Amino acid sequence: MNIAMLGSGFIGRFYADSLQGYRSKDKIVTIYSRKEESAKKFAHDYKVPYHTTVMEQAINRPEVEVVCISLPNNLHEEAVLLCCKHKKAVITTKPLGRNATEAKRMLEAVEKAGIFNGYLEDLVYTPKFIKAHESVKNGALGRILWAKSRETHPGPHSDWFWDIEQAGGGCILDLGCHCVEITRSYIGKDIKPIEVMCWADTQVKPIDAEDHAIGLVKYENGAIAQFEVSWTFRGGLDLRDEVMGTEGTIWVNSFLRTGFEMFTSGKGADYVAEKAESNSGWLFPVGDELNELGYNHMFMDMFDSMEKGKQPRETFYDGYVVNSVLDAAYRSAKSKLWEPVKLDIWRGRTGVGKDSHLQEYDADHYLVKEEMTHYGAKKWILKNKKTGKIVERVES
Ligand SMILES: NC(=O)c1ccc[n+]([C@@H]2O[C@H](COP(=O)([O-])OP(=O)(O)OC[C@H]3O[C@@H](n4cnc5c(N)ncnc54)[C@H](O)[C@@H]3O)[C@@H](O)[C@H]2O)c1
Repeated sequence: MNIAMLGSGFIGRFYADSLQGYRSKDKIVTIYSRKEESAKKFAHDYKVPYHTTVMEQAINRPEVEVVCISLPNNLHEEAVLLCCKHKKAVITTKPLGRNATEAKRMLEAVEKAGIFNGYLEDLVYTPKFIKAHESVKNGALGRILWAKSRETHPGPHSDWFWDIEQAGGGCILDLGCHCVEITRSYIGKDIKPIEVMCWADTQVKPIDAEDHAIGLVKYENGAIAQFEVSWTFRGGLDLRDEVMGTEGTIWVNSFLRTGFEMFTSGKGADYVAEKAESNSGWLFPVGDELNELGYNHMFMDMFDSMEKGKQPRETFYDGYVVNSVLDAAYRSAKSKLWEPVKLDIWRGRTGVGKDSHLQEYDADHYLVKEEMTHYGAKKWILKNKKTGKIVERVES
């Protein structure tokens, strides 16, 4: 695949390392950056034959097959519209838009232009997520009741993130977009998110946006998702998921405390992992960051799908749904009420009821709980269907 890369910053470089780092045939053929020196340096580092400070020029070259948007949030729409104009396949980093209105415009534009579109939500492509999600899909956890995702770190690295106008929001938008798509995937992307309750505050940073938030997202089938996000967390990048079902539980720790712990006095100290706050003392290095963060599997899905003429796992539509959930979170943080998720475009199921929580024991009883005691007796706690009385049966 011949790629035009828009943006030579933090994520542009992570993407480039993933795209070109593994004997890949995919090549970045043009790079756009705001500053000439950054474009030139990126072109030199990744052996990109063409660099420019004019966005359209990076897109509209005949050799470009797909455009990868790695730009600040306020520039996603402009870049997407240029891809539509020049009929170039487009993949864009998260969040899709600064809000659902922007995301919807982008979704409608790519569909009208008939171009391939992919949403680069890398955290649903991590090896751990893929395995966990397979287990959920295969029914290993039964009916999913609750899914929680947490992303917290000490704050982003570039000026524009901290400016609410350019970024579109604080940690809810920047990190919540990951958590919403992760939990939505566990619950089922065809299940409609219906309302959101969110607490948000600016506890530490001198900014207009929120630097810490916790939210609940209710789904039509009765499942609940939870996101915990912060730009004020100390100690590195904390990425964790928990899923609870009627038949099982999953705990995923993706970055800190992954089983790789190292102590160093700091002699010869080097880069440890994204957003690590220290390179001495006890550290939590990450074996293969590009893979652990899902970039490799993500680009594989994007380009394989393009070649096969099918949709990737994550499209602009998913980005739009995520933005809509986050818009409701912002409204709730202000109103302090459950706020509805407004989805003008919904392609999943509708009218999905809450599954029955009643488990049959016998003709007269529902099962509340079955247990083997430490003293060797087997117990059944039962509820009488007619009287509602709770009784206990013991077999020793
Ligand atoms: N895990 C992830 O998926 C992930 C991680 C980090 C960032 N991102 C997303 O990637 C996008 C870019 O973030 P980043 O961390 O690479 O930012 P960055 O500041 O490191 O890089 C942004 C790049 O955009 C270009 N640019 C063009 N016009 C600009 C302007 N007016 N102001 C600033 N930069 C301009 C520059 O080349 C700059 O290097 C954002 O949408 C962000 O949310 C995604």
